[in-house]
Amino acid sequence: MSSTPEAILAQLQETGSAYAEKKPGAREQLLNLAYSLISSLELPSEAIQRMGWAEPARAAHCRIAVDLGLFESLKESSDPGISGKDLAAKADADETLIGTFLRSLPGIRVTILIRTKARTLKHLASMNIVAETGDDKYVGTPLSNALTEPKYRDGIIYTYDVAGPSFRGLPGYLKSIKYALPTKLTDGPFQAAHKTDLPFFAWLDQNPPYLEVFNNYMSAYRAGKPSWVDQGFYPISERLVEGFNSNAGGNDVLLVDVGGGLGHDIRELKEKHPSLPGKIILQDRPEVISAISGGDIFEPIAHDFFTPQPIKEARAYYLHSVLHDWGDDDCVRILKQLQPAMKPGYSRLLVNEIIVPDRSPTWPVTSMDQLVFVLGAMGERTEAHWESILARAGFRIVHIYSYEMGSESLIEAELV
Ligand SMILES: C[S@@+](CC[C@H](N)C(=O)[O-])C[C@H]1O[C@@H](n2cnc3c(N)ncnc32)[C@H](O)[C@@H]1O
Repeated sequence: MSSTPEAILAQLQETGSAYAEKKPGAREQLLNLAYSLISSLELPSEAIQRMGWAEPARAAHCRIAVDLGLFESLKESSDPGISGKDLAAKADADETLIGTFLRSLPGIRVTILIRTKARTLKHLASMNIVAETGDDKYVGTPLSNALTEPKYRDGIIYTYDVAGPSFRGLPGYLKSIKYALPTKLTDGPFQAAHKTDLPFFAWLDQNPPYLEVFNNYMSAYRAGKPSWVDQGFYPISERLVEGFNSNAGGNDVLLVDVGGGLGHDIRELKEKHPSLPGKIILQDRPEVISAISGGDIFEPIAHDFFTPQPIKEARAYYLHSVLHDWGDDDCVRILKQLQPAMKPGYSRLLVNEIIVPDRSPTWPVTSMDQLVFVLGAMGERTEAHWESILARAGFRIVHIYSYEMGSESLIEAELV
């Protein structure tokens, strides 16, 4: 549905009041309205300019800024800021690209000094990544300062170097296979773009720098958004702590995070619920587990989730953004490996995934669907689709927990 700018402005005002009252979902709603306002105001020529040049240039220069440490330099010199010339010198880069450049015009008898602008910084400032505060003076913004943190910085590297080529190559790839639907983990847009036969995770293992940026970015791509461990989302005390039997199977395990990456979800869980009883286990591939230092609040175990689950009778088995990387048959295989370990009537299965609504999914949902498509030829699923996969694996949905304007839901399921 397209609205007029006037109608969107009225909604913005209304939602602005909800935002001021800190109503759940108001921030996300405001963002959606702001994007709608741009679409309603923008000319087609401006839309093409933005999508075709301005945003690709922004992405490229963010990637360059990461390589040159520009965001770090801007953060260090927060007050009073730094000149482009000094930034260029620190980065050992040509001043025309980064800094201010004085030169004489050839063919003119009197030497005239003209200024060629710091082109990287100018574009990043015009796109609100950094700020230009004076004549050849730049400072960081909350965003560019955040991009110095490894988890966000690695998001720039990962999205540009790993996912980027798959998106750029998608039109040509789909044309080459006559617009058939790719469904194989070993033969899709990712393999065509990166000229490999390896599935995504095996490719990461062969490219350790990208394995590291992927693992770091996993803790960032939903940072700050509503999480299942937040108050008002999933009733952790009622559903996990009450009835927790610390002697179940002699294991004393409250939760097993299956395919949990570096353990960021567990850290968040323990930070927000410091007095949880029992042990928490983190499982992932050996290549990931070996990168974990100090498993202080959880026990890291290398485990292939296509093999039988070794931790018996835990209160909960939790899978976050794991199943969306796999086709239906593989999801059933992964879930069936949990079944024998689960205690009927006690163990809960928690699946934290996007559930695509039948109507008007938001861009965080549709773009994640596109991301898993270009990386693994997979796709996000509707509620009916999840229900059918769980049923095939011998599970029944107990309840689906969601949050106002959140992209991900928590599906609680039990053995049939
Ligand atoms: C998309 S990431 C999700 C990570 C984490 N759960 C999160 O939500 O941030 C998928 C995870 O599954 C892990 N994984 C892939 N294949 C696996 C396997 N066969 N056994 C165990 N873990 C695997 C990957 O290493 C990765 O950490």
